[in-house]
Amino acid sequence: RRPGWPAVLGPLVVPAGVVLLRPVRLRDAQHWSRIRLRDREYLERWEPTQAGDWAERNAAWAWLSQWSTLRRLAKHGQCLPFAITVDGGFAGQLTIGNIVRAALRSAWIGYWVSSTLAGGGVATAAVALATDHAFGQAGLHRLEATVRPENTASLRVLDKVGYRKEGLFLRYLDVQGAWRDHLCYAITAEEVGDGLVTRLVDSGRATLP
Ligand code: ACO
Repeated sequence: RRPGWPAVLGPLVVPAGVVLLRPVRLRDAQHWSRIRLRDREYLERWEPTQAGDWAERNAAWAWLSQWSTLRRLAKHGQCLPFAITVDGGFAGQLTIGNIVRAALRSAWIGYWVSSTLAGGGVATAAVALATDHAFGQAGLHRLEATVRPENTASLRVLDKVGYRKEGLFLRYLDVQGAWRDHLCYAITAEEVGDGLVTRLVDSGRATLP
């Protein structure tokens, strides 16, 4: 069983363009790699430490194993791995991962967006779309986002969308070679009312096409 997968979410219009979420594809390789090789400085400070160097791990051929892992997890209902597109072009990723069902019905949410679109409202729209989907078709009850306290842009995204700060996890995640503290933000289904997308549109931060 894999409720809510596969799915296409959006479109939603923000200053950067038209945002749509759809399943990651094998043919995203070149676009994924080009952005990630260029944006190393922008991305590496926030991502979990992994073996191998950045250029190797983010070469186009490396997408094959990333994509097949995500696809396998999605098939087993453990993950919702979206590509974020802006005006039809690959622009980043949003993943809902470690989905646990039964009496927990919880998961984490993580995302990155091309630096060329920074501040254009893309991540905010993507998190709103994915959260509504998680609590709707995917049948989840709680989402959790963990962010380094230094990551102002990501904290701002969660704040705009309406996630709540729950606490500080000490030495939580291995990022850039050391155990880094992370702030934990979360939201449960009871808190979204008519949905986060509706809230975003009502606040003037996004429009429906
Ligand atoms: N200081 C203060 N505010 C900032 C900064 C900064 N250095 N940079 C951006 N912001 C603000 C923007 O002004 C905007 O707020 P506003 O609408 O009030 O002006 C907000 O932060 C960003 O909102 P969006 O435009 O919706 O977000 P964007 O599409 O730029 O993506 C993201 C944000 C995903 C964090 C992007 O910067 C990124 O990919 N960073 C690198 C990877 C990363 O950090 N991912 C998140 C890890 S944590 C997690 O996944 C739960």
